[in-house]
Amino acid sequence: MGVLRLSSEEFELLRDLVRAECGISVGDEKAYLVETRLSSLVKETGCDSFRAFYDFVSEKSNHDLRDRMIDAMTTNETLWFRDDGPWKILREILIPEYFQLLKEGGRRQIRIWSAASSTGQEPYSVAMSILQAIDDAGDPSLKDEQFEVFGTDLSPSALFVANSGRYDPMSISRGLDPASKEKFFDQVGGVHSVCDRVRERVKFKRFNLMDSYAEFGRFDLVLCRNVLIYFAPELKRDIVERIADTLQEGGSFIVGASESLQGCLHRYTMQMSDGQIYYRRKPGGEK
Ligand SMILES: C[S@@+](CC[C@H](N)C(=O)[O-])C[C@H]1O[C@@H](n2cnc3c(N)ncnc32)[C@H](O)[C@@H]1O
Repeated sequence: MGVLRLSSEEFELLRDLVRAECGISVGDEKAYLVETRLSSLVKETGCDSFRAFYDFVSEKSNHDLRDRMIDAMTTNETLWFRDDGPWKILREILIPEYFQLLKEGGRRQIRIWSAASSTGQEPYSVAMSILQAIDDAGDPSLKDEQFEVFGTDLSPSALFVANSGRYDPMSISRGLDPASKEKFFDQVGGVHSVCDRVRERVKFKRFNLMDSYAEFGRFDLVLCRNVLIYFAPELKRDIVERIADTLQEGGSFIVGASESLQGCLHRYTMQMSDGQIYYRRKPGGEK
């Protein structure tokens, strides 16, 4: 089969399908993304055009193929301790606050949600930060089990890596400091595996941010980083508002370094620390 070309009509059909399935908006100027990311899947299914693929993938029973299409369309780029700001806030402001809450009996467990966890680097970085802080505090009343980190993502292949906790030399080299690598990973050959102590703190689940968050309960911190940029403004606003419902009163919300939440923030107060912005859920159920 030769090179497949995507017509503008096919682009619009597939773009609408991708947006309906996972919220990702593909701009007109990004038709090449649909063409390059989906063409091998189109060929694999034996379809001779994007139109034939669209008809096939839209069939109700073809959810596995729709999952693979979404997998191909998501950008899973991530790294350990991505951007300095959130980790500084976690270490210097939030973790000390959590220790205090636990010691005063204000909370039995601290719950953190990494809402687009990709291949796991973000939730595992959170767990490593907490475990390191517990060790540094040297306070026997603080226990690992008092913390739970929850990672969710829509991409099955990203979740597979996250769940395995196994990383190749290239992924392990991106953002991880030597001391954390030494302390929190086991190395066999070229593969680094997250150690049991970290792994036990983090649970993963496949989840679409467009679905209801009602089953999750309340979190002390939600990280939703470098994913809202892919969504249309209305969907972004809806997700940011619904995340407020998952937060404890005064709970914190962190987005990606370059993401703007203008127009989405009436349920939050903006906090600034050392030039890094994060948000807190406003008291009460104000909407
Ligand atoms: C660029 S990664 C960000 C990973 C990490 N938060 C970080 O900042 O390094 C974006 C992730 O969002 C996920 N994603 C995209 N649309 C989603 C949706 N509707 N529901 C859940 N996850 C989604 C993708 O699968 C991808 O793994």
